[in-house]
Amino acid sequence: MKNTVKKIGVLTGGGDAPGLNAVIRAVVKSAYNSGVAVLGLEDSFDGLIHPEKSRPLSPRDVTGILRLGGTILGTVNRGDPFLEPIETSEGTFNYADRVIDMFKRAGLDALICIGGDGTLAISHEFSKRGIPLVGVPKTIDNDIMGTNSSFGFDTAVSFATESIDRLHSTAEAHRRIMVVEVMGRNAGWIALHSGVAGGADVILIPEIPYDLDKVAECIRARDAWGARFSIVVVAEGAKPKGGKVSVVAEAHGASPERLGGAGMYVANELEARTGKESRFVVLGHLQRGGAPTPFDRTLATRFGGKAVELVLAGQFDVMVANHPPDIVAVPLADVVGKQRLVPLDYDLVHTARRLGVSFGD
Ligand code: F6P
Repeated sequence: MKNTVKKIGVLTGGGDAPGLNAVIRAVVKSAYNSGVAVLGLEDSFDGLIHPEKSRPLSPRDVTGILRLGGTILGTVNRGDPFLEPIETSEGTFNYADRVIDMFKRAGLDALICIGGDGTLAISHEFSKRGIPLVGVPKTIDNDIMGTNSSFGFDTAVSFATESIDRLHSTAEAHRRIMVVEVMGRNAGWIALHSGVAGGADVILIPEIPYDLDKVAECIRARDAWGARFSIVVVAEGAKPKGGKVSVVAEAHGASPERLGGAGMYVANELEARTGKESRFVVLGHLQRGGAPTPFDRTLATRFGGKAVELVLAGQFDVMVANHPPDIVAVPLADVVGKQRLVPLDYDLVHTARRLGVSFGD
């Protein structure tokens, strides 16, 4: 098929994840080497709303960013943008009309949209409205449907594992319970993988509501055989059986609730039940910062390269996805509005149980 694509736009949306810059770099370099110009759109779709929020990207502009966290294009996370009209230096517009108009004015032939569930859902809407685009899945939570993994997850797990390693020695020295709260929203991937890699004794994930009496039992049993300290990894979205998730801010408008407090709750309850001193640590946004791991750099680079390949092949309204050993295209329609949670029959859950890890159930 003859390549009619001459200019593409690239944007990053939603919360950042280590590896975003690696995707941008791969997109710019592979597009350039195929004779395609790239326009960098700042702050997600804002780059197609405000004329001052876009800039051409050449290989020179992306040299040296492979190893950098964050995104050189900036990002925003603001619920459903289709709901409100938008103010620009050129007047007030309907959101969707403005984006489509500016896409044409910029002379773009296609978009590459790097983002999580929210950005991919917005992208699918624009696809339906006629903008040719390819999505690239990003999230440390690893919960995007249709792909075996997303970049950012490995970096978050590595950081959380190193943190658990560090907490082991202080937990043992003081014979305490150390509770580590990790991110992941409604999915327990980060907690499960870092918990197993870090040798945690208890792992609480959203997919398995917990009973704190069972957790306390496990801790007492460890004390009985002489361990006298315990490491408990709690996903921010974990909840007690019949209870609710811990939130620091309720949902409002199109913005989801902000999770937080699960670690503190579990630490306090375990201290009351076991009489053992407990401390908690919230790893928070440290899990999203810093340099991407080699795995994430490689996955992000493969995603960026594949996205350009799909654009050149005229395959749109799809998302690149990791289906080992291949990077493939899956329809955005099969991805949006869904969440990939930890399956209860996942072998890592079984293996952890066989090793004596408690899930509090
Ligand atoms: O989706 C990524 C994530 O880091 C979640 O793990 C977490 O719940 C959320 O984003 C935090 O969002 P914010 O950066 O808006 O506080």
